[in-house]
Amino acid sequence: MAVYLGIDIGTSGTKTLAIDAQGNILASATAEYPCYTPQPLWSEQDPDDWWKAVVTTVRKVMQLAKLKPGDVRGIGLSGQMHGSVFLDKQNRVIRRALLWNDQRTEAECREIEERAGGRKKLIQMVANPALTGFTAPKILWLRNNEPKNYAKLAKVLLPKDEIRRRLTGGYATEVSDASGMLLLDVAKRQWSRPLLSKLELDESLLAECFESEDVTGTLTKEAAAELGLTTHCGVVGGAGDCAAGAIGNGIVGTGVLSTSIGTSGVMFVHSDEVKIDPAGRVHTFCHAVRGKWHMMGVNLSSGGSLQWFRNQLCQDVVAEAKKKKIDAYQLLGDEAEKTPVGADGLFFLPYLSGERTPHADPDARGCFVGLTLAHTRGHLTRSIMEGVTYSMRDSLAIIRDLGVPVKQIRASGGGSRSPFWRQIQADVFGQKVSTINSDEGPGYGVALLAAVGCGEYKNIQEACAATIRIVRETPTNKPAAKYYDRGFPVYQQLYRSLKDDFQSIAALAK
Ligand code: XUL
Repeated sequence: MAVYLGIDIGTSGTKTLAIDAQGNILASATAEYPCYTPQPLWSEQDPDDWWKAVVTTVRKVMQLAKLKPGDVRGIGLSGQMHGSVFLDKQNRVIRRALLWNDQRTEAECREIEERAGGRKKLIQMVANPALTGFTAPKILWLRNNEPKNYAKLAKVLLPKDEIRRRLTGGYATEVSDASGMLLLDVAKRQWSRPLLSKLELDESLLAECFESEDVTGTLTKEAAAELGLTTHCGVVGGAGDCAAGAIGNGIVGTGVLSTSIGTSGVMFVHSDEVKIDPAGRVHTFCHAVRGKWHMMGVNLSSGGSLQWFRNQLCQDVVAEAKKKKIDAYQLLGDEAEKTPVGADGLFFLPYLSGERTPHADPDARGCFVGLTLAHTRGHLTRSIMEGVTYSMRDSLAIIRDLGVPVKQIRASGGGSRSPFWRQIQADVFGQKVSTINSDEGPGYGVALLAAVGCGEYKNIQEACAATIRIVRETPTNKPAAKYYDRGFPVYQQLYRSLKDDFQSIAALAK
């Protein structure tokens, strides 16, 4: 039997799944690890924790699906994007990795724009502006703030590419994840030598860049032994989790957009050509489809906002859910569904980690606006779900403005498992949302890429056509959509009204 593994190095944990050559899921397993916040808005993880989770989940999947070592022909890797794994010459991790939602690099973003000759020139070189979450500002932060660590630096790898190094012994990345380093000439799909030189960074710091379905190496003897696999197992490029999730959702052609509500929220649309937002509000990255691109908007605290609310303010619900053996989110959603559309005038701004799209503002903060004595916990939950969905509509509006067609919306990610949140999406977007037969996310996308790389399919479009189909549709409820059309400009105005206050609040802490 030919089996392909998809391994996704997420922020809350690693998920590994196994598929057969027809794309059927044989087993999956997850293992969690901590995220460190040594200072407010900093976010770090230990690459050793990722590796341990990879070993645990691969072994678990092999056992659950009763696979023999030789069954696994290929592995696809996916992971949280932008994170910086700093390695010395001996491949030792120099310090904990800085993650995608770390906001410490504001000064370095300004430095990059200056060195590039301005924001416009930077966007010309790498298709995107400098954002605090991206990798290049993290490298400069190390140089500016931890010179002793910087002096040891020999390689900078993205999270999934550090796992690849431990699997294959080689330094490699692929175009979709590399796009988020802010060092790739996205149009040409190769490292930007002009920008590297302006930033005084040596190209040798970076890994070789492949297309997502290319085989980048095979397992070393040591890795094969540790995972219970063989050395006849290829590791394909894979993809950053956004592109991988989109592949797993079948977003491989024009006109289809996916929404994903995980810790972050992502609006992702395929594009046959490079289309760049001159204002830099949405990202233009290489797609994991050979020779294609995508645009996306990213909200930093989507499912993460509801998770924060559950953890900090709803421990009684968590206990009740445990007793009833159901998900606490289900109970919270049931309460929210009993409150009216618009939560009786309550708005939530989901900027708990600052915000990326469309504001690119690390100082933005989360808020409830419009509270009255009449509001219940159900209203609060609903307003969080609505606020997160409005923030995704911000990206949708930009994508539509840029003339990218959006004929179909596919909802995915943990948040979209809730029929209630899917309905809010259909109503806030004013367009029906569909869901597909698999909701396994990025791991599924990269397992398919592995199957393509190992010759099971001609290309990823063929693999998606053979394995992915729509199973459910949530039509728009017209009166609710009408309400949200009126609520959206109010939501948008709230950020503009509060922007200066957010800066004053941030200044208090500086
Ligand atoms: C994408 C991004 C996040 C992380 C989350 O640009 O920053 O979606 O990849 O895992």
